[in-house]
Amino acid sequence: YPPTDAHLLVESSFDQYLPRRRQDSHKGSYGEVLILGGNSGMLGAPILAGRAALMCGAGKVHLGMMDERFPSIDIVHPELMVASARSSDLNRPVMVIGPGLGTSEEAKYFVQKVLEESPSLVIDADALNVIAIDETLKELVRQRAQKHWQTLITPHPLEAARLLQTSANEIQSDRYKSAQKLAQELQVCVVLKGAGTVIVDSTQTWINSSGNAGLASAGTGDVLSGICGALLAQGLNAAQAACLAVYLHGKAADLCVENGVGPVGLTASELIPVVRSSLNDL
Ligand code: APR
Ligand code: MG
Repeated sequence: YPPTDAHLLVESSFDQYLPRRRQDSHKGSYGEVLILGGNSGMLGAPILAGRAALMCGAGKVHLGMMDERFPSIDIVHPELMVASARSSDLNRPVMVIGPGLGTSEEAKYFVQKVLEESPSLVIDADALNVIAIDETLKELVRQRAQKHWQTLITPHPLEAARLLQTSANEIQSDRYKSAQKLAQELQVCVVLKGAGTVIVDSTQTWINSSGNAGLASAGTGDVLSGICGALLAQGLNAAQAACLAVYLHGKAADLCVENGVGPVGLTASELIPVVRSSLNDL
């Protein structure tokens, strides 16, 4: 059961902090996101995250690729600026690190650098796996809270289990407690993914009402991390970005199902423009 003080996320939960478009604004008003990941064989992950960030309103989106044979452009979304992770400027934009990152020594180097340098950060996928086995990196995560930097982690149950050195079954047996434990241990905002996504920060707990099993396919988590990045770039704090991103992601999946695009065979790519519509409709 959810804690009695948990908030249920519904359509009206976000009125206070919806990203808005001012008439006299320009792309600089909506921030810049850099997605860092994409080792060989996993180039699609940062592309999905980047496309989602673009469609959720970030002013500019960069991809920093680990694989040196990365494609130099996303031909479907040429708005994305693709470069090598090694030549990317890590402390200027909002960062999303992890989609397809891999767990090499170099991946670890980038995780450390970003933890030390990026004041606004989403940590997903392999970046979490790298942190899970390194106490020094865990300490760097905690130190971010002292600097009042925004840090959002988006583990699925197995990634959460690795971080807490337990099993996915144990995590799933009490998802609220697990998410709270993680938030406390790392001093970050936690999105514990899976059916009934739970969001926890240092003081509050939220439970999502949207979404369905159509989301159970590879790449939808990458889309979520990109949405989170775009919302941070537009000025939301970590908990706000997490709550709105999770709700929109689930809502988009629900709309897809209503239109016969899923649950069976819903793809992460198809989800992205529907997330955009859901955001504009709020
Ligand atoms: N109901 C609602 N939502 C669901 C359901 C469900 N039954 N199943 C999955 N989801 C949602 C989750 O809440 C999450 O937002 O789909 C998303 C899945 O995210 P991930 O598990 O991270 O999946 P994926 O995108 O494939 O991750 C890419 O990174 O995390 C690693 O091991 C992962 O290799 C994989 C890669
Ligand atoms: Mg994932």
